[in-house]
Amino acid sequence: MEVIITNSADEMSKKGAELVAAAVKKNPKAVLGLATGGTPVKMYAELIKLYKSGALDFKKVRSFNLDEYVGLPGTHDQSYRCFMNENLFNHINIDKKNTNVPDGLAKDIEKSCAEYEAKIKAWGGIDLQVLGIGSNGHIAFNEPLSGAMSKTRKVAISQRTISDNARFFKTMDEVPKTAVTMGIGTILEARKIVLLASGGNKADVIAAAVEGPVTQLVPASFLQLHADTVFVVEKEAASKLKGKY
Ligand code: GLP
Repeated sequence: MEVIITNSADEMSKKGAELVAAAVKKNPKAVLGLATGGTPVKMYAELIKLYKSGALDFKKVRSFNLDEYVGLPGTHDQSYRCFMNENLFNHINIDKKNTNVPDGLAKDIEKSCAEYEAKIKAWGGIDLQVLGIGSNGHIAFNEPLSGAMSKTRKVAISQRTISDNARFFKTMDEVPKTAVTMGIGTILEARKIVLLASGGNKADVIAAAVEGPVTQLVPASFLQLHADTVFVVEKEAASKLKGKY
């Protein structure tokens, strides 16, 4: 595991974009694992800049998103499909046919999850997985107590995450309570993982994930077991780390 501490959220976003850009330059057909949430938004803006300047080509890039709310169609403004279109896909030359987001409306969710896993494998596996982190240590929608071997499945969203996500919805009732998410096991199969975090509200959880025991109480701590994970952490979010990195 590597920890890179940055002076600002902007610097964190640039560093994240640099790592994604390196993967795409190395393999123009790279399979990217993509994340939603507030944290990666500026990193996506950096990637759009690189594309517009001619430095990066997404024509053959393929992608799989981590998760989606159950019950929201891709056209809903809070769906993760819509988030990806608005924050990245609509602004670069990626072929939308090559972008995948779990189907929150699937009639047979179990089958649809198994198909998602199979498609990731069929497309050669994820080269680089981008992650954010929830304030309770969740990655994607793998809440505390998610197993290390878990795969794409339907999950209940924790009360804490529901409250964290309420800011994006008009009323508490509208916040989805279930989601489809890649599992911890799915994420750990990615060849490289880049986790981004910023803000003092993430300081405790970053310290627990990086320096605490590997435990299902802090799902991000399972990343300690991965062969090539980089935490890119802005200094406030890194403020409770004890080690010097
Ligand atoms: C949601 C997403 C996660 C994301 C988390 C943190 O729960 N499912 O993938 O990491 O929010 O979001 P933010 O970056 O806004 O703090």
